[in-house]
Amino acid sequence: MLLDIKKYGSEVLRKKSIDVKDITKEILQLMDDMVETLHDIEGVGLAAPQVGVNLRIFIIDIGDGKVRKVINPMIEYSDDKIECEEGCLSIPGVYKNVQRSAKVTVKYMNENGEQVEETGSELLGRAFQHEYDHLEGILFTDKLSPVAKRLVKKRLQEISKAKGEPAL
Ligand code: CO
Repeated sequence: MLLDIKKYGSEVLRKKSIDVKDITKEILQLMDDMVETLHDIEGVGLAAPQVGVNLRIFIIDIGDGKVRKVINPMIEYSDDKIECEEGCLSIPGVYKNVQRSAKVTVKYMNENGEQVEETGSELLGRAFQHEYDHLEGILFTDKLSPVAKRLVKKRLQEISKAKGEPAL
């Protein structure tokens, strides 16, 4: 089932999400629906708050043949930073450079309840950090420089006003 993507201005995007206790049928269904939705819109990652659920779940598909279903992640950041352009399915039409750690290590539970540890850089590393932020109620536009923030302010207000409308 395709899910609605919550847009900038939705409260659910700003709440800190809570841990998943058990991987129930409903959780598995939610993750399947998130994957279907992500593929439909050809995105790289989608976090549960973006579909209105404040649970610590996100999915990532960077096109390496592996769809990652990430539950209750913990993240460690490298000290070295890189800057790269980013966008977000909840903030259509906004693409800006964001500074992130060059590399992260993420420990999480997969859909089978197995503990997984992965180190990612480049697109995977960036996706891990972007999606993890969603679980903390943080959006990439929060991380922009004051000048860049001013440039996107009007667009953010437009999205916020139009939220609940279909994606652009
Ligand atoms: Co996003």
